Amino acid sequence: MFMILLAVISVLALVSPATIKKLMKSTRSFSTTTTGTSPAQPHQDSTTVNPDSDGAGQLGINDLNRVQTVLNEVLFGPVNWNKLGLKLGLYQPRLNIIAKSGGDADDHWRKTLEAWLEGKDNATSRTWQTLIDAVKETDGRAAAERIPDKLKSLYGITLQ
Ligand SMILES: *[C@@H]1O[C@H](CO)[C@@H](O)[C@H](O)[C@H]1NC(C)=O
Repeated sequence: MFMILLAVISVLALVSPATIKKLMKSTRSFSTTTTGTSPAQPHQDSTTVNPDSDGAGQLGINDLNRVQTVLNEVLFGPVNWNKLGLKLGLYQPRLNIIAKSGGDADDHWRKTLEAWLEGKDNATSRTWQTLIDAVKETDGRAAAERIPDKLKSLYGITLQ
């Protein structure tokens, strides 16, 4: 019994703090609550008020302004709102309704982003990366590639 205990202790002694940090980091996405205050998250300093500063969390309707601002900043215009909506997981019937709802492309674009952020149809993934991928596939490869820099400079969000 004593020998087993001794063996366990010596194995524990071999695990360096750096290894523990690495382990904690790799399990971070599965246990964000238990490691929330650990020093293994250097990107979340005490001045950060946004818990999604790593940009990995699901966006909500409250993020509409940010989403629109970022898209404006990278010059992704509202013209391709229907195509973008499909890439974000919305179905054409809903986009048809938006098209017939009056207003101009700006209004359609905003309503499409709202529907996405509200998780309508098949819009199950509502992250910045989803938006980047959708913009890229819609026709704005150059615009998509500028989004990470804008997120960083405007909101301090660093995508993983
Ligand atoms: C819904 O979205 C998932 C994942 O994004 C995709 O694999 C699936 O094909 C979509 N379903 C439809 C009916 O578009």
